[in-house]
Amino acid sequence: MLIMILPIYIYGHPVLRKITEDIDPDNYPKLKELIDNMFETMYLADGVGLAAPQIGLTDRIFVVDLSPVASEEHPEFRDFKRVFINAHIIERSGELELIEEGCLSIPGIHEKVPREGEIRIAYLDENLQRHEETYTGFMARVIQHEYDHLDGVLFVDKISPLRKRMVKSKLTNMEKGKVSCDYKIKKVR
Ligand code: NI
Repeated sequence: MLIMILPIYIYGHPVLRKITEDIDPDNYPKLKELIDNMFETMYLADGVGLAAPQIGLTDRIFVVDLSPVASEEHPEFRDFKRVFINAHIIERSGELELIEEGCLSIPGIHEKVPREGEIRIAYLDENLQRHEETYTGFMARVIQHEYDHLDGVLFVDKISPLRKRMVKSKLTNMEKGKVSCDYKIKKVR
């Protein structure tokens, strides 16, 4: 199969603010190809998650692979490669945790984001099998970050007002197309 590296849409592009819709898997040609392309695009950009709006699509799909951040402390990340189709978070619980995040659509900005420590999510995997699972810790965090993309929400929306002011000029530059990084991107203009 021919893998295509897709450009990653950068902050300011309207598609990143769209609310995505569930797909009809029976009526979605080249789903497997899309998933493969999303993984390869993410790997090339050194990301651990990528959501459909980041490649310009309004479909309710994201991919996650935590193997690059597996460690002695977290060996379970090694096999954590998942596709989330028609994902819906059913429940969020646990304490709010404040941890630094970044995003392939917002290069050069890393800020602490508050998120719930535990989630329960329903989704279809790449074989269209339905799952309902609970995640905690870093897994819950990455999943919530990608899931937010499906609702047009970006991590910079959730940072403190002070930090928002600190990154404002960088974000404005991105909106104007003044941005560079070492992977293929699609700027606003
Ligand atoms: Ni992101």
